[in-house]
Amino acid sequence: MRKYIFFVIGLVPLSLNAQSTLVGGRCEGCEAIFEYGDKLLNPIDTLPEFDSGAPKMLISGKVYQEDGKTPASDVILYVYHTNQKGVYPTKGNEKGWDRRHGYIRGWVKTGSDGSYKFYTTKPASYPSRTEPAHVHITVKEPDKNEYYIQSIEFDEDPLLTQAMRNRKRNRGGSGIIKLTEKNGMIFCQRDIILGLNIPNYNK
Ligand SMILES: [Fe+2]
Repeated sequence: MRKYIFFVIGLVPLSLNAQSTLVGGRCEGCEAIFEYGDKLLNPIDTLPEFDSGAPKMLISGKVYQEDGKTPASDVILYVYHTNQKGVYPTKGNEKGWDRRHGYIRGWVKTGSDGSYKFYTTKPASYPSRTEPAHVHITVKEPDKNEYYIQSIEFDEDPLLTQAMRNRKRNRGGSGIIKLTEKNGMIFCQRDIILGLNIPNYNK
């Protein structure tokens, strides 16, 4: 009995400690960043439905180290977003986080210049129209646990109110992007500064 009590007391502080030092804090679903299977990651990915006829969008940018200047290589980015109906579409045979994130998702790994590109389609807001359209992003640096950064939202989105803008924590930099359009492609540039406004980053 004495041995058992010692064991239990010893474990509790350990697990609490792990929670409080997690880079970025707790994140439900961030582990989906590891669900790329046997896909060879490189700085460019094309997401499912790019050729579906929905408005084409190129999400691109550079990933920088904490100084905001040095390009960050070997950083994995995972993105997922809704379709034109505002839902995360599934096919019914999903086994992992794609049951919730849907199949419109992709992964890249930055090269030496820190740049990345996702060829995808423009998401729509949830059918409830309570939240602006957005693209979720999770980051995995070589020497840190995975964490989420500020989702991409579109500056011209009428659902993005001033109150919402004021509440943004700008994890990894601002996610509110002004879109441009040329030759049938929407351009969305989201640069990322690693560790910026990320809890426990240097612990
Ligand atoms: Fe979402």
